[in-house]
Amino acid sequence: MIVTMSRRARFGDLMRRVKARLGLARPRGRDWHRRGVGGRWDVLGPLQFEFLKSQGLEPQHRLLDVGCGSLRGGVHAIGYLEPGHYFGIEKESSLLEAGRSVELPRYGIADREPRLHVTGTFDLSWVDTGVEFDFAIAQSVFTHLRPDLIRQCLRSVLPRLAREGVFYATFFEAEEEDVLGPDHGWREDELQHPVYTLRTLQGLAKEVGGTVEYIGAWGHPRDQRMLAIRRAPEVDHSP
Ligand SMILES: C[S@@+](CC[C@H](N)C(=O)[O-])C[C@H]1O[C@@H](n2cnc3c(N)ncnc32)[C@H](O)[C@@H]1O
Repeated sequence: MIVTMSRRARFGDLMRRVKARLGLARPRGRDWHRRGVGGRWDVLGPLQFEFLKSQGLEPQHRLLDVGCGSLRGGVHAIGYLEPGHYFGIEKESSLLEAGRSVELPRYGIADREPRLHVTGTFDLSWVDTGVEFDFAIAQSVFTHLRPDLIRQCLRSVLPRLAREGVFYATFFEAEEEDVLGPDHGWREDELQHPVYTLRTLQGLAKEVGGTVEYIGAWGHPRDQRMLAIRRAPEVDHSP
């Protein structure tokens, strides 16, 4: 298994380690990393995995999990996909590290070579040239992002999709207009509960050469809606 980190993430990680060494870090308690991605571990993990399978995910496919947190959905996909076919990116190094060191052994899948990378900029330059994703998913991620970060995410992910690849992303739907609301609190560069119109998300995708299909309700307990985002066929996505 490979865990890599961007320079900014390495700095954040170093600061956390210094705080821990100085005794400034707050104790987190057992399985804090499950609560840290919103809890409902046994509901939201299987839900997203079964959704991907219902859309055609098969063991030979390659999956990119954007904002994979502590691998709530990842543990199911990693056990199902061929070794090395699961790719996870995550901004919070401590969540990803807990997923790697606690959840992978717990599920008996530590030998399945998931490719895990810490980045807050959706950087995919560490993924080997030529690797294309058949599926990508961002579950409960656009539900925390500002529009500029959603655009940045799409700009990074869409060119790495296979020609028939699909990026599934959940969002909180606004009927009339977007409401961004307050900052998240403990997670940097995130909002608590932004709501977006479908029109806004279609506009962001169009700006970076994507199309958006509205899937809508998919059984999420907080009624997050699902989108299927694809590369627009007429746009050249070559690097
Ligand atoms: C509610 S959690 C969901 C995690 C995971 N998708 C799941 O369903 O368990 C949202 C995750 O998105 C991550 N995230 C937010 N902004 C990000 C960014 N700019 N780049 C990468 N990950 C990000 C957060 O750190 C957090 O782990």
